[in-house]
Amino acid sequence: MQFEKNKSLKRLNTLAFEHTAEHFVAAQFDDDLAEAREHALKKSWPLFVLGGGSNIVLTQDIKGLVVHPVGADINYQSTSKDDVLVTANAGVNWHELVLDTLQKGYAGLENLSLIPGAAGAAPVQNIGAYGVELNQRLVSLRALHLPSGEWRTFTNKECEFGYRNSLFKRLKSEYVISTITLKLSKSLPLNTQYAALQQLIEESQLTNVDAKAVSRLVCQIRSQKLPDPKVLSNVGSFFQNPIVKKEHYQSLKAKHPNLVAYPQADGQVKLAAGWLIDTLGFRGKRTGSVGVHDKQALVLVNFGGGTGEQLLALADDIRQCVKRSFDVELRIEPNVM
Ligand code: EPU
Repeated sequence: MQFEKNKSLKRLNTLAFEHTAEHFVAAQFDDDLAEAREHALKKSWPLFVLGGGSNIVLTQDIKGLVVHPVGADINYQSTSKDDVLVTANAGVNWHELVLDTLQKGYAGLENLSLIPGAAGAAPVQNIGAYGVELNQRLVSLRALHLPSGEWRTFTNKECEFGYRNSLFKRLKSEYVISTITLKLSKSLPLNTQYAALQQLIEESQLTNVDAKAVSRLVCQIRSQKLPDPKVLSNVGSFFQNPIVKKEHYQSLKAKHPNLVAYPQADGQVKLAAGWLIDTLGFRGKRTGSVGVHDKQALVLVNFGGGTGEQLLALADDIRQCVKRSFDVELRIEPNVM
């Protein structure tokens, strides 16, 4: 393994902020991860895991060792005529995994098409889109416990998944995920309930809607609303959609009849943060080199040359305005480093 010094992370974070890793190593195999941990321990370097860099806001150079998992194998193990267990290394690009499974005829990941990032990071924030969350597909994952050096397999339940949340997000950098295992099937029913998807299916007058078609339509919706990080630097949704009590929702709805909201199973109500931010006039607003995307107010962007501090100042401005106007606390979705 090759350890590098003062490595620029500009190309390794999708906000393209110019920070460095004091030490850096790309780890391909489980043994490499274990070796990187040993090395960091010996040198007393703090260790930080960087996956696809699509959910992180860098505000400073990273001290110690940054480990970047790059293992990119995908394995299929049939469990019946239709069903399969798919095991992917942490370094597999998420969208390439989605396309690979669809290509082999398996449904289950089509709604999660075109989400930037690496497979190993997907469980950390329990990625979700268009009515499907990763926890509905994930069977288990394997991870290295950094403090003890022990390998552990987590079942779905043990990952403690929630909306954009998991045990791994709460424990920050305590575990490095090395592989994830998903259960997919040739006969999994499609999920096309999400309003924007349903509408597009109707408009496109498709006669045979299969998993590949759903994937294509999801890609179409995403590319209309969400900027491609290769073209305009961003980390997708910058805020989580807030969940409020029913009474709070009812009083807001009385004042704002157009408020977009989704009732939750527990009686609470999830509000579309994008709508709240848009309603306050932030969509398309630019301050210096950073701004709010003009097609989706939930996405903050770096036009080039911006910094993490500038982006967080804008986020703070938005959070205060939302708090004042709707009495709602917005939480930042990506990890701030
Ligand atoms: N809206 C506005 N103005 C905006 C943005 C949104 O009025 O500027 C309204 C939309 O018209 C719509 C509602 O808000 O009625 C919801 O918008 P959208 O369907 O675009 O979804 P979202 O709530 O903004 C969430 C996820 C996305 C995911 C989509 C689709 C979160 C934080 N975000 O966004 O995930 O792709 O639903 O399922 O849960 C991500 O996490 O990075 C991400 C992109």
